[in-house]
Parts: sequence; structure tokens; C-alpha cells
Amino acid sequence: MENPQFTPGPRCQRQQLRPQPKIPSIVEGFRLAARNAIASGFDGVEVHAANGYLLDQFLRDGSNQRSGPYGGSMDNRARLLREVLEAVAAATPLMGLRLSPLNGFNDIRDSDPIGLARWLPQQLNQLSLHYQHVIRANCTGVQQGDLLTPMREQFRGVHVADGGYSADEANAAIGAGQVNAVAFGTPFRANPDTFYSPGPEGYTDDMPPGRLTQR
Ligand SMILES: Cc1cc2nc3c(=O)[nH]c(=O)nc-3n(C[C@H](O)[C@H](O)[C@H](O)COP(=O)(O)O)c2cc1C
Repeated sequence: MENPQFTPGPRCQRQQLRPQPKIPSIVEGFRLAARNAIASGFDGVEVHAANGYLLDQFLRDGSNQRSGPYGGSMDNRARLLREVLEAVAAATPLMGLRLSPLNGFNDIRDSDPIGLARWLPQQLNQLSLHYQHVIRANCTGVQQGDLLTPMREQFRGVHVADGGYSADEANAAIGAGQVNAVAFGTPFRANPDTFYSPGPEGYTDDMPPGRLTQR
């Protein structure tokens, strides 16, 4: 097999804009999922608005090409997120939110990621959000900047970060008051062959040396 390279395409632009009348059904879907989670015994719900998934597509101006109440200004682009958080908050006693304003995963980007990162937590303070979970990583390396500082400074709830932390770095960041907690993924995989890619890497090998030193 040749080594096919992933070519980022304008996938977000190719997607059809969701007609506005369908948006309430999206909000209702999140509410129902949260209600079912709590009914199933979960303590709380973390809303995923990161990594180029639907809520992130609305948040960032590289993908949100809408006009009208859900497009244009940051306030409009965050409208769907606010509606979802209000709906989920009514269904769960504990709510977190996962964000990644800098991450270019899934081809997503924003013209002002740090501005968004500074503005968004101010809005979140007005909602019943217990913690924000910020992915500091930027998989594509397209956008750079200090994301965590403005997000911590502006948010009044618990500030969780993740993305390539070792145990030592996490302890240092908590000790220095940069974050309240750190989340991990990679070091806790049961099966190392979980990083799928367009080529054999990820299926047939493990992460590059150095990433798993804290295992
Ligand atoms: C095997 C694996 C699969 C993951 N899948 C997703 C995913 O589907 N969506 C997502 O937003 N993040 C996904 N993540 C990212 C994690 O949620 C988390 O942000 C990340 O693992 C934290 O960084 P770390 O792995 O360097 O500790 C995945 C992580 C791993 C290790």
C-alpha cells in the first residue's frame, strides 16, 4: 500500500447549512440525550462543543457561513451552544462543556481563536456550567496562541485542560494554579492500536516514542 496522505478538504463548506427550522430539534436531541444519561445513572453530562463537531462548527467563523440569528457575530455563532446548554442544564444536576477554540481537527478554524477563547467563558459564566474542559492541543498546527490563560481568567467555574499532558506537567500546572484539573486520554488506552490514520500507522504501531512515558 502506498502511503496516502490526508488532504484536508473544505468539508465544512461542502456541508449544507442546516435549515433554521430544524435547529430546535437539535437542541431537543441534546436535552433528550442528557435526560437519558441521568436516567441511566450518570452523575452529569459533558456537552461536546470541540474538535469540529456540530456545536464547534457553529462557533467558528471558518465553518459557520450562515446569515441570520445563528451566524455572523460571536454572539450569534454561540446561540446554538447557549440554547443547548440551557436545555441540558434543565436535565442534569452537573454539566460540563468541552471546547477547543484553537484546534484545527476536522479542518475547522476561526479568524480570531484567542478572541473567541476570551469571549466565550464570559458568556458561560451566565449559564449553569460547573466546569469547562479545554483541549489545548492543535492537531493541525494551523493556529497558535495561548488559549488556556484567557479561558481560565474569564471563567468563574472549574477549569479543566487536556492535550498531551504528562503527570508531572499536570501536577505542575495544577500547583501553579493554571488549571484546576487535567484530563488524560492516551496514557489510559487499554489497546495501543487505537490511533487510526489513512495509512498503517495507528493500526500496526503505537504512538511515537515519548508520548507514553507516563504510562
Ligand atoms: C483513542 C482515542 C480516541 C479519541 N477519540 C476522540 C473523539 O472521537 N472525539 C474527541 O473529541 N476526542 C477524542 N479523543 C481525544 C480525547 O478526548 C482527549 O481530548 C485527549 O485524549 C487528551 O489528550 P491526551 O491523549 O494527550 O491525554 C480521543 C483520544 C484517544 C486517546
